[in-house]
Amino acid sequence: MLAIARHPLVQARLSELRARSTPPREFRRLVDDLALLLIYEATAELATVPCTVETPVGRAAGVQLAETLAFVPILRAGLGMVPAALRLFPDAPVWHLGLYRDEVSLQPVEYYNRLSRFAACERALILDPMLATGGSAVAAIAALRRLGVREIGLVHLIAAPEGVRAVEAADPAVRIQVAAVDERLNEHGFIVPGLGDAGDRQFGTR
Ligand code: PRP
Repeated sequence: MLAIARHPLVQARLSELRARSTPPREFRRLVDDLALLLIYEATAELATVPCTVETPVGRAAGVQLAETLAFVPILRAGLGMVPAALRLFPDAPVWHLGLYRDEVSLQPVEYYNRLSRFAACERALILDPMLATGGSAVAAIAALRRLGVREIGLVHLIAAPEGVRAVEAADPAVRIQVAAVDERLNEHGFIVPGLGDAGDRQFGTR
């Protein structure tokens, strides 16, 4: 299922993020804000259990989260989404997955994998600013399925239609949360109009 966050706070920040003139320090701040807003959306259906809270003046009915979830940032660019994820879920484990996309074949190449072999979490959210061909996301989803993770969500800032279709074809149960679906991919596999390379723009490497 595809969910696009149309909230004005999301869309205004996304527009700033896209701008060629936005420097890395601003770019990182915008990724952080957008990650918080999109993870908030992506976790709207989390189960809760009722509880009672003693306030200074009485007793209130409340809720506690009933589920644990893990975050799976795809290195490098997904790293910028981790601080916001941990502000919302301070106790969540973080399972780093290093994938880069081969510039010629556009296929994902795994170079680091700290997915928990003891997947205690039934739910995982994959964090990566961009869904382009979908190769990286499909590889990450397959790795989590092999570990037995049942509920898997993707959180991307922007996506190409090609990437959305690839994920839907590979694993239709995955919920895809984005701020925008752009026009298309160009011949180099870059999202058009997109925002350039989210890894390079966060870390000042181009
Ligand atoms: C980018 C992006 C995704 C991937 C998306 O990473 O952050 O991980 O490409 O492409 P796909 O949907 O076609 O797989 P990149 O390879 O540039 O690595 P980086 O994060 O280290 O910059």
